[in-house]
Amino acid sequence: MIRGRPIYQDRSDTLMPNLQPTEISPLILQNMLDNLPVGLMVIHVNGETLTVNQAASKILGYPLNAFDGERWEALLVDREKNDAFNRIIVDIVREKKVNLKRNVWYTRPDGKTLHLSVTGSFLREGENIEGIAVLINDLTELHRAHENEKAVLQENSELQHERAESIRHLAEAVAHQIRNPVAAIGGFSMRLLHKLDPNDPNRKYLETILDGSKRLEDIVRAVGSYTRLLRISPQRVSVLAVLERAQAEIAPKEAELSRKIAWTVQSEPEEMILDPELFCHALKELFLNALEFCNDHCIAISVAIRKNEDHMDVEIRDTGSGISEKDRPYIFDPFFTTKAVGVGMGLCRVKRIISDHKGRIRVDSVPGKGTSVTLRLPESSGIQHKASNS
Ligand SMILES: Nc1ncnc2c1ncn2[C@@H]1O[C@H](COP(=O)(O)OP(=O)(O)O)[C@@H](O)[C@H]1O
Ligand SMILES: [Mg+2]
Repeated sequence: MIRGRPIYQDRSDTLMPNLQPTEISPLILQNMLDNLPVGLMVIHVNGETLTVNQAASKILGYPLNAFDGERWEALLVDREKNDAFNRIIVDIVREKKVNLKRNVWYTRPDGKTLHLSVTGSFLREGENIEGIAVLINDLTELHRAHENEKAVLQENSELQHERAESIRHLAEAVAHQIRNPVAAIGGFSMRLLHKLDPNDPNRKYLETILDGSKRLEDIVRAVGSYTRLLRISPQRVSVLAVLERAQAEIAPKEAELSRKIAWTVQSEPEEMILDPELFCHALKELFLNALEFCNDHCIAISVAIRKNEDHMDVEIRDTGSGISEKDRPYIFDPFFTTKAVGVGMGLCRVKRIISDHKGRIRVDSVPGKGTSVTLRLPESSGIQHKASNS
């Protein structure tokens, strides 16, 4: 179907001295084009369709000779259904947009819909544009596989979410059931303790009961505060303002633990879409850990906020005791703690907050030297701005 003068002319006489480019017979050239695994359409600069190879005719669903002697406008097939496909052909041919590449949907005459990648480039002879080549790749199978994979991932994440929600409901119900009996045990043992003589040998039993009930109350409180974590309510906020609020709210803990934090903050005045309450809560948990797991009176905490094109990192680095290799796999587990009296729900809460923001959390630690926790929040996390929620 090659008509007119061949566009492809290899002028590299030095590389192939015995084979003059004009000697490539049109038959060989047509064979080469037809064996290409991608669709190719060549349009002469005067608008005439020079060639359409077999792959292109198969993909587009038109017979090989359908465009014979036609002008390029004949390629604008089935105008109603194939607007996006036709648009790219127009852009390549008429607007002469160089190296244009788009993925478009295409409906064949038999009604089958394909996902195509269409690329246009120019065929030059010296300075002159002699023709335009349109390459067509059928990505339908790839696209379908990709969509299936996305659907499976989505389904998995919904399942995980459902499972997490049902565990949350169970934990909430158990905490609710325990709360009242524990309060009664604690309250009555306290009353009994007040009534006992200071030297009564039974005091130590009551004190153990009281300690146990206090510990249970702490656990019930921690579970309650985990299960009550609200759904995120994102808004555009200054990250620095949220950080400053978390720093201010942690200050009373310094006095309580008789420790002092030396802060270093590196940040541009960045804005981000996040839930300020929950994000502040996550920062406070991390600052509290830094404060609690340090052996010195003074602890250095440095916070670095870095924003890239598609995400923001908030890194919190401390110079505390670090996390041992053996504890490292468990730190996000509910109730895991290395404190003598601790509940172990802090990092579990942080993880939930960050994953609700569709972010990730990374912990690096060197025992004896310190810990660095990086919270990575995607810019386009799919979370909706409060104002656009309604
Ligand atoms: N900054 C840190 N430095 C050292 N250890 C840490 C730090 N953060 C967390 N950990 C370890 O992870 C465990 C779990 O932390 P968390 O969930 O906040 O519970 P808790 O603070 O009640 O122990 C801690 O007990 C501790 O062993
Ligand atoms: Mg903690």
